[in-house]
Formats: sequence, C-alpha cells, structure tokens
Amino acid sequence: VVKENFYMKLRAGVIGTNRGQAFANALLNCEHTEMAAICDINPEILQKNKDIFGNPALFTDYRRMLESGIDMVIVAAPLPLHVPISIEALDMGIHVFSEVPAASSLEQCGDLVQAVRRSKAKYMFGENCCYMKNHMIVKEMARAGVFGDIYYAEGEYVHNVRFRDEPGGWREKFLFDRRGGTYQTHSLGPILEWLDDIVVTVNCVGSGSHVDPRIHGDDSSVMLCTTAKGALISLRNDVLSPRPFSGYASLQGTNGCYETDWSTSKYSEMDRVALVDPEKPKEDVTFRPLSDFEKDFTPKVWRDLPEGADKWEHGGADPLAIMDFVHAILEDREPPIDVYRGLDFTVPGLISEISANQGGAPVAVPNFRYR
Ligand SMILES: NC(=O)c1ccc[n+]([C@@H]2O[C@H](COP(=O)([O-])OP(=O)(O)OC[C@H]3O[C@@H](n4cnc5c(N)ncnc54)[C@H](O)[C@@H]3O)[C@@H](O)[C@H]2O)c1
Repeated sequence: VVKENFYMKLRAGVIGTNRGQAFANALLNCEHTEMAAICDINPEILQKNKDIFGNPALFTDYRRMLESGIDMVIVAAPLPLHVPISIEALDMGIHVFSEVPAASSLEQCGDLVQAVRRSKAKYMFGENCCYMKNHMIVKEMARAGVFGDIYYAEGEYVHNVRFRDEPGGWREKFLFDRRGGTYQTHSLGPILEWLDDIVVTVNCVGSGSHVDPRIHGDDSSVMLCTTAKGALISLRNDVLSPRPFSGYASLQGTNGCYETDWSTSKYSEMDRVALVDPEKPKEDVTFRPLSDFEKDFTPKVWRDLPEGADKWEHGGADPLAIMDFVHAILEDREPPIDVYRGLDFTVPGLISEISANQGGAPVAVPNFRYR
C-alpha cells in the first residue's frame, strides 16, 4: 500500500446485484473498502439483496449511483452494458472492475480502450477463473518451465445457462443467438496466463442449433486458436446443451502435461500433473496429484488469503480478484488483468463468431494494444 493511501477507504458501488453478490463478502471484510452503494434496475431484487451487501445506499439508476461519490464500481450488469457503464464511470474518474466478457462487439472493444486511455482511473477485467488456486499454481509452474515448451492446450466452458433468463432476455440475444463461442473467457483466460501468450488466429466451427427451435446460434462450437508463440489451443463452448457443468482443461509441453476440471471451483484430486522423470525411461510418464507441487508453487496471494475465504465465492477466486484490484488502486499500479489482457481473453470469442459465419475460415485476431 502506498504510504499516503494506507488510511484510505475506497467507497465501492456494485451495479447488478445478482452476480454482484460474489464480491460482497470481500468488500465488507476489507479494511480498505466501504460497501457504499448498490444498483439494480429491478427495485424488488434490490430490496431482496440489500442485506447481503450490509444495507448500503440503494439506486435503480446506475448514473445516479456513479454521481453519488463512489471511488470504484463493480460492473455486474448484463453483458451489453459492461462497456457503456465502464466508459461512463472511467470518464468520471471512477475505478472499474468489469464482469466477463469485457465487451459484446469489436466496436465496443475499441471504445473501451479509448476510455481507459483518456481516464486517470484504473480498469480491471474481472476474469475470476484466473484466480482459482489450481490455475494459479499451474501458472507458476508453467512460467518456471516445469512443463518445458508448452505447445498445446485445451479448454471448455460447457455450462447450461439456457433457463436463467426469461425468453427474450440478454443471454438469448448476446449469447444464445450468436454463432461461435462468445462466452469463453473463463476457459481461455487461465490458458493464456499459463502460456504467457496471445491468440493470433481463430478457426471456429459450430454444431448448429438442435436443442431449442427458438435459438439460432450453435449449441456447441469448437475454436482452434493459434498463438503468437506458436502454440495451438482448442476450446469447446456450450451454454445450451442439457448436461451438467463441465470445465475440462489441459496443457501439454515438451516435459509433461497437466489436466483438471475446474467447474467445481475446487482444487482437488482431479488436478493432476505428469512430468518426464530424468531418472526413468522417457515413455514412463505417470500422473501425480497437483497437490505435490503446492508447497513450491502456491503464489503469495493464495498464501495471504484471509482465513475462511476459500469457502467464499468460487472457492475464494472472486474475493481474491476484487482484492487484487483494490490493492492495485491503493498501490497505484496497473491492475493485474488490465484492459489489453481483458481483450486478449475476450476478442478471440468475438472473432470466433466471424469465423463460424464464414464456415470455419481462419480469421486474424486484432491486438488492441496497437489500435
Ligand atoms: N465471473 C463469473 O463467474 C460470472 C458468473 C455469472 C455471471 N457473470 C457475468 O455477470 C453479468 C451478470 O450476470 P448475472 O448472472 O447476474 O445476470 P442476471 O441476468 O441474472 O442478473 C443481472 C442483474 O442486473 C440487473 N440489471 C439489468 N439491467 C440493469 C441496469 N441497467 N442497471 C442496473 N442493474 C441492471 C438485473 O435486474 C439483474 O438483477 C453478466 O455479464 C455475466 O456474464 C460472471
């Protein structure tokens, strides 16, 4: 904490009180934040949820809340509103933590970057899956070269959210009715963090629509991504098929592999690693639990986790993400997942829609650092 900010209490506001609840525990328990205000367009939902946030000031109009004197805002309203709300907040000098995906169109990505560049306030992309303990340990291992040169990774976001909205809700228009995999930051984000890489091309082929005649997008789609460092990433996206939530992910390097299913948000025996042992024949590569590597590779943020916070939302990943943002503000440094990194995770999904509409042709992914 920068010395002059040590006694500072950031006044936090949350827009969208469904997903927004994931951050209440952390903000209420942090000595550097005050849960000042919440906003939901639906007054009944606002009343129902207010106690979870410690009974702060209530707003049904997000502009009124932004004008109420808050220092930071969590944008957990529906996807099409992430960019418009973020831009208004940044232009008012309010720090923004945005839910996923960062944007719902390429045009919005450009507008967001311009707003971040002209603002003195900070923007963080809240990809909470990057903060899961297993994902963070594997990132440390990958960056230390434990897996050798990583040339392949695989991920999926297979989560049936078809019945979360009334027909005609935001998910239908901005997720279900679109081709490709526009909601893939939970699977792609951690992989790009392991690889320390960006996606440069995407080919995407979709299954077409089978499960619901009202829906026009793909039930399942597969994205093949090539990266700047020359790796291949395969991602399955599916938010519609009738089946349980599944988040298989794996990586393969010249020295071994890792695999997991992160959908339970728990670090468990399902996380396993197989590495070449220089003492053994090269073909003798067997799995060991990831927990064998915990002692050497658990990052500081996880070691410093407040007691009991691993029982909070998404196994502690959500509070860790928001606390990392708060610390970036207090220490006046760039947030760990800044706007460009957020777009590294988001833009390949938007490009997958273009590729799927062109029968799976490869499409280049723009890098918004240079736009
Ligand atoms: N990171 C994660 O793990 C995670 C999990 C769930 C959802 N999300 C993201 O969070 C966002 C919200 O998801 P959700 O599941 O809460 O959606 P939801 O549709 O269940 O709830 C959205 C809430 O926002 C309110 N709202 C709508 N328009 C508003 C406006 N103009 N101003 C204020 N409030 C408004 C609605 O009344 C509702 O209470 C989505 O963009 C989604 O992609 C992220």
